[in-house]
Amino acid sequence: MAIREATIEATYERMAERLGEFVPDFELRTKAELVYEIERLKVERNAVILGHNYMEPALFHTVPDIVGDSLELSRRAAQTDKDVIVFCGVRFMAETAKILSPDKTVLVPSSRAGCSLAESITAADVRALKERFPGIPVVTYINTYADVKAECDICCTSSNAAAVVDSLDSDTVIFLPDEFLARNVARDTGKRIMTIQEIAAAGDRMRSSAGAEMISWNGRCEVHEIFEVADVRSVRKQFPDVEVLAHPECSPEVVEASDFSGSTTAMIRHVQSSEASRFLLLTECSMGDNIIAESSGKDILRLCSHRCPHMAEITLEETLAALRELRFEIDLPAETIERARGSVMRMLEIKPSAAALPSASAPRSAIR
Ligand code: 13P
Ligand code: SF4
Repeated sequence: MAIREATIEATYERMAERLGEFVPDFELRTKAELVYEIERLKVERNAVILGHNYMEPALFHTVPDIVGDSLELSRRAAQTDKDVIVFCGVRFMAETAKILSPDKTVLVPSSRAGCSLAESITAADVRALKERFPGIPVVTYINTYADVKAECDICCTSSNAAAVVDSLDSDTVIFLPDEFLARNVARDTGKRIMTIQEIAAAGDRMRSSAGAEMISWNGRCEVHEIFEVADVRSVRKQFPDVEVLAHPECSPEVVEASDFSGSTTAMIRHVQSSEASRFLLLTECSMGDNIIAESSGKDILRLCSHRCPHMAEITLEETLAALRELRFEIDLPAETIERARGSVMRMLEIKPSAAALPSASAPRSAIR
């Protein structure tokens, strides 16, 4: 057997062992060939592949050199010495990699990998807010585009949001654009929160923040906003021993009804270290499959209608095409990169709070 065929066969066997439960056999054979081609091109292009925790199992467990949550991937993107970064995640994540490594070629494998949060706010919206509330520091979630980051003072991710807010020497902060994350952070930091719409409804259109200590926007994650307290109750009724984990993009009521809340990697770490044997994950459903593929003996319940359509755009086929054709390259104006970099770097300098510590990337063994 030629070396190529033997390598593909060995990759197929390892994939079948780990992923046979989720991926039909005929697909595994095709995907093993794609993995082989991606690995070959990765060396030829001197590329590194970063993979977010929401990638489909056949991708997540094979080609990425580094996997993790938004914070971990941002840190790693800043450290690579490769010429090309292929970001298997959505566009705002690839833009963050470009902001941190402006001289590198950064690719996102699909031009359709957006995000409902990133699309909920524009740079002009932020400028209008700063005009209305002068001098109040603006924190923006990493799930925003580069031109929005450029208008803000500091970024945060789901794993360091409270630490970032606490680090600011200000009684009042503007927190954009995720209303639910803002409400969860307000609870954790003891701040009185109002959305910009609530402040307007309070009738004070002039410069006052109507007593709010945190001013939020009304962006929502189209995946996490769907979960309801009724989902938690009904699963608890059926499985009284279940431990419920909710991403902080879920509503504060859902987070309150859960046993643990944290970034995607913090959730993975929690499942790995918990004594419990059954978990409900209130997040994008591929992540549940990815955990099952790696940790035996744990029963992972997930509501599988909740797949992020943007993350689902990133496949092995698109990743191969990205490496072959060097598509879709992230191109940002130098001035935007310069200004957005300040916001991202200020975030990376913040020491994570004790609660956020488990968000560091989980070590894992990839199938090659
Ligand atoms: P994490 O930073 O927790 O990985 O979240 C990213 C995201 O888009 C969640 O919807
Ligand atoms: Fe955006 Fe939600 Fe998809 Fe994350 S899961 S990329 S926040 S739409």
